Amino acid sequence: ETVDWDPKDTGKGGYDHYMLKEINEQPTALGRSVSGRTDSAGSTVDLDGFPAGEFEGVDRVHLVAMGTSYHAAMYTEALLARRGVPARAFMSSEYASSPPPAEDGTLVIAISQSGETADTIAAVRAARAERTLVVTNVVGSSLTRECDDALLVRAGPEIGVAATKSFSSQVATLSLLSERIRRDVVGTPSPDAEAFLSALTRLPDQVRQVVESPAAEEIADAFTDSEAYFFIGRGPGHAVALEGALKFKEITYEHAEGFTAAELKHGPLALVTEDTPVFAVFNGGSDDTETLGNVKEIRARGGPVIAVASGDTPDLEGIADHVLSVPSTHPELVGVLANVQLQLVAYHAARRRGRSIDKPRNLAKSVTV
Ligand code: AGP
Repeated sequence: ETVDWDPKDTGKGGYDHYMLKEINEQPTALGRSVSGRTDSAGSTVDLDGFPAGEFEGVDRVHLVAMGTSYHAAMYTEALLARRGVPARAFMSSEYASSPPPAEDGTLVIAISQSGETADTIAAVRAARAERTLVVTNVVGSSLTRECDDALLVRAGPEIGVAATKSFSSQVATLSLLSERIRRDVVGTPSPDAEAFLSALTRLPDQVRQVVESPAAEEIADAFTDSEAYFFIGRGPGHAVALEGALKFKEITYEHAEGFTAAELKHGPLALVTEDTPVFAVFNGGSDDTETLGNVKEIRARGGPVIAVASGDTPDLEGIADHVLSVPSTHPELVGVLANVQLQLVAYHAARRRGRSIDKPRNLAKSVTV
């Protein structure tokens, strides 16, 4: 499969950093990830090379990845579970050292922006599965040769070490793949497939609204020298909380940690003071009520809370200290928009600290050893 961008376009396009350019490229990248693969009516899923019926006989999905791609794997685990497909996300390194026993009907999906991550290659080689498939951003990468099949996310070259547009395009591509697998395994579309898929086609424009908003920079400026930065969420929002923490720590070098929303009271709440801002990711769905309860627990201990939420989340006035708003969309896609807000918070926080944003210390774009 070929993809339609100019490989020679490796300049920063007038942005101060590749990371900022790639954050701003997300509307275009997402448009490429989705175009031709579904329609605004949300009636079809057309994945190049994976016709209807392709995944009949799949009984379970193992997702293997590292870093940001592991967070995309967690996000996909939530999407597949809600579509009635047993799925589990594994860190590639763990999967490689102790692969689950062979079971008929297992599909292993490797997720890797570069397609070169040594841990994920090792996981695919160790997999005792009938079939392996890689979701990647790089045509012809090692994992496309290691796996039986490949599905491209089409995000375009990602130069910044911190993954940004590749995460959004991974989640968009994997959500289409999840619906394809659901239809083949269960035999019918998801109950709200049309709403989900048509929301997916509107996501690029909604991401554009987020990247054009100054709110994230104002939040980054409001919390410049905190002890630590916490991120919480549920379901897809949990994956986004972990991703937001990774983005923050890898380019600001500050302590940042993500948790599932209910986890704090089981220990981490001991760390919460007025000096530990907590970013709370809301999905705009039924689980927001529980997350609101967790936010109240944090505020009662003096922890400042920044809610990242769409208009479908109950009134946060007087509950959260700040709100980073995102446009309303399907509850399974709010996380993609919330993540763009958190990318921008991390970017501006790192910029204020004069960090080497595109090449953070000690890190490489692709961990091939
Ligand atoms: C995330 O910002 C980092 N670049 C890193 O965690 C990365 O996601 C991880 O090394 C996996 O890389 P891959 O997607 O190319 O396999």
